[in-house]
Amino acid sequence: MLFFGCLLFATFYLLSCNNKPEQKNSRKTIDYIRQIPGINDSIPDEVAEKGKVLIAYSDCYTCHKINQRSVGPAFNDIAKRYPVNKVYIEMLARKVIMGGSRSWGYPVMDPHPKLSFEEAKTMVAYILSMKK
Ligand code: HEC
Repeated sequence: MLFFGCLLFATFYLLSCNNKPEQKNSRKTIDYIRQIPGINDSIPDEVAEKGKVLIAYSDCYTCHKINQRSVGPAFNDIAKRYPVNKVYIEMLARKVIMGGSRSWGYPVMDPHPKLSFEEAKTMVAYILSMKK
């Protein structure tokens, strides 16, 4: 019964803000990415190449896609959020090793304890090199 009540409420809610659906959508996308301002360094091609290979041989693509949200956020979206520099690369590399959640939504990233810090940083460098 509660479920139907919620459904009814949701329907009314959606109908009541029907007048500006496009604006609402674009705001939602920006909230999801929450771009962080900062200085961008460039990633050397050979580092990005190495990161690409490391990622291909790991389990990352079971939960991540390049262009599309899957279990985890799209690599493109991660690249959009974070500035490309040492601070963020190290922070994200630690997160890949430790696993975690709450920064993009509910699902949890498994920890990757077998990756070295260097490998994780190289992988993250490849992901952030997708920043346009
Ligand atoms: C079991 C599924 C899963 C696997 C496997 C996985 N991820 Fe994730 N990843 C996630 C989820 C879910 C999130 C979002 C976590 C959050 O909201 O904080 C995420 C987030 C990330 C982030 C962004 C972290 C942040 O705090 O913004 C990076 C970078 C990342 N993953 C890299 C990787 C790499 C590299 C691999 C392979 C070594 C990998 N992931 C494997 C599910 C996974």
